[in-house]
Amino acid sequence: MSLTQLPASISSSSSAFLGQQSTNSRTSKFSVSVTRNLICKCVVAASPHTEKAAYTTKVSRNANMAKLEAGYLFPEINRRKLAHLQKYPDALVISLGIGDTTEPIPEVITSAMAERSRALSTLEGYSGYGAEQGEKKLRAAIASTYYGDLGIEDSDIFVSDGAKCDISRLQLLFGANVSIAVQDPSYPAYVDSGVILGQTGQFDKDVEKYGNIEYMRCNPENGFFPDLSSTPKTDVIFFCSPNNPTGAAATREQLTQLVKFAKKNGSIIVYDSAYGMYIADDSPRSIYEIPGAKEVAIETSSFSKYAGFTGVRLGWTVVPKELLFSDGFSVAKDFNRIVCTCFNGASNISQAGGLACLSPEGLKARSFLCYLNTML
Ligand SMILES: Cc1ncc(COP(=O)(O)O)c(C=O)c1O
Repeated sequence: MSLTQLPASISSSSSAFLGQQSTNSRTSKFSVSVTRNLICKCVVAASPHTEKAAYTTKVSRNANMAKLEAGYLFPEINRRKLAHLQKYPDALVISLGIGDTTEPIPEVITSAMAERSRALSTLEGYSGYGAEQGEKKLRAAIASTYYGDLGIEDSDIFVSDGAKCDISRLQLLFGANVSIAVQDPSYPAYVDSGVILGQTGQFDKDVEKYGNIEYMRCNPENGFFPDLSSTPKTDVIFFCSPNNPTGAAATREQLTQLVKFAKKNGSIIVYDSAYGMYIADDSPRSIYEIPGAKEVAIETSSFSKYAGFTGVRLGWTVVPKELLFSDGFSVAKDFNRIVCTCFNGASNISQAGGLACLSPEGLKARSFLCYLNTML
């Protein structure tokens, strides 16, 4: 069998998770049949500019939406993968698409969700809207499990329906007038949400980049860590470790440099640790392992990748009290306002699952699951 990569001219500023490539036939991603390919709905739609519309409203299209160069990257990767498989049905494709999980969720976790779900049918067990920030027990369990002695308190934690949703809510928090830096390549949500918010210029097809974004090149030559000595100052720095798509985890020394760089420039780091639990060496799993990070960093994370919650949906974001805007106002207070306005809290069933993940049995079962997802 030969491994065939997609013939991609996919922007270097876009991404997928290399670590999730699979040669295992358990992943349906790998064994998509030609018949299924033929009914795939990912087709290029006729341009609205070329067809005469029967009726239009008088509402102008959001100019920032119009800046978005293509559809979201992952459906596009899937479309190209299916097209390739249709042409070469025997090809063994290394998918650079969305980093989905493959292994069933351990029963200790699903039974907690089933129990909470059943309880909703009883008068005693029913609950409606919960706290927008998440259930206190879960916030406390996240704080103690992931941030043990790092000085992060449960009140610094905002439970969510996933890191991707939180990335957009964080962008809403910052608004249109900030400048951002991203690793290049990186997970596409940082750039696309910035475009939608109006933080960027137009897309330059020649270089496949948006104006007004600082793309920090991360490649084998620089050990997948940007050269900060030549990186211009931006307000916000999105940094993901282990990185999607390169899989590179920043070392303690590199993250110390990053925190110092942010502090020198007065920037805020948005640290994405969605794959943090896959780190097996001494590299930090959280930015808060670096002294001083609480004054310059927000961390967003997820149950998706290491508890198989990509469909269940549960994540969290840490906004420490120490993090302040230039006028001294608390970033956490503003984020709380965003969360209360744009979100009604994570599903109570997912939160029961999250709590079970963090129980001693859940942690044991999950570390095995994490191992399996790494292997596949
Ligand atoms: C780096 C990174 N962050 C966040 C996410 C999204 O996580 P969630 O499922 O919690 O929204 C992904 C998903 O692929 C990712 O690769």
